[in-house]
Amino acid sequence: MTAPVVARTRAELAGALAARRAAGHRVAFVPTMGALHAGHASLLDVARASVGDGPVVASVFVNPMQFGPGEDLDRYPRTLDADLEMCAAHGVDVVFVPGVDEVYPGGEPQVTVEPGPLAAVLEGRTRPTHFRGVLTVVAKLFGLVRPDVAVFGEKDYQQLALIRRMVADLCLGVDVVGAPTVREPDGLALSSRNRYLDPEQRRKAAALSRTLQAGAQAAPYGVDAVIGSARVELRRAHGVDLDYLEVRAPDLGPTPAEGEARLLIAARVGATRLIDNMAITLGQPPAARTGTDGTHPDSADREAATTTQGDS
Ligand code: PAF
Repeated sequence: MTAPVVARTRAELAGALAARRAAGHRVAFVPTMGALHAGHASLLDVARASVGDGPVVASVFVNPMQFGPGEDLDRYPRTLDADLEMCAAHGVDVVFVPGVDEVYPGGEPQVTVEPGPLAAVLEGRTRPTHFRGVLTVVAKLFGLVRPDVAVFGEKDYQQLALIRRMVADLCLGVDVVGAPTVREPDGLALSSRNRYLDPEQRRKAAALSRTLQAGAQAAPYGVDAVIGSARVELRRAHGVDLDYLEVRAPDLGPTPAEGEARLLIAARVGATRLIDNMAITLGQPPAARTGTDGTHPDSADREAATTTQGDS
């Protein structure tokens, strides 16, 4: 296990990559805010697999621009020593750990990335400036690292969709790879913010993934069945305060009537806001499948599916 080079300045980062770049290697990049967990480890592994012998760069930077007033910027977990150990264990070559002045010399930039309408829905309703901050820092980090491939978790699905959109709309020439969410045995999606949960809240937090699972099981019966079954499951959980539960297209456009879609949830458990999402495949809603005798060909199946959600 070789320790990665730790670059704290733009010049150190450029120096650490110069020889590999000159030799024609492809560069893979995993931007993070640190507090790394097994979900990040999986992103590092995807990055390594995508460039073979080429260099893998990770960044650890808690980006003030993406935190709104009253959010957890000050208490966001900072665990650099453990982060560097994880990077070493997963074959990272360079860890870029810039200070705020290195990323934002002179303060917040005058020119920022306007994330457009996709940033106003879902997370954007509660966090109106969040994605402007995310896209601006990701664009800057892309400019500094100049990766061929960048890996992001599907856990932050709206972030991933917006980064794909930014790369396409601004012709940034980076191959954006989404990596599947890593979950605890009870289904809770791994997140650096899970550390805020006390044991009781941690137990309650598993309701988010159970809610998504219940919705996903009802997907063959259409969108209303998905939302209905998910809500039934959520009602069984106490101390989980729903913010949104929505079905959208895979690119987060309007909800499709059938086919591939994404079910997304945000909820508060205590003071901690958690998000999660799941891929679903929507079947035709029962109304669209009504038989000539006025019955739904699969009404018995539908009833069975709803009953197994425990609607009582
Ligand atoms: O997902 C994160 O950790 C952050 O939003 C990112 C992409 C590193 C930008 O600060």
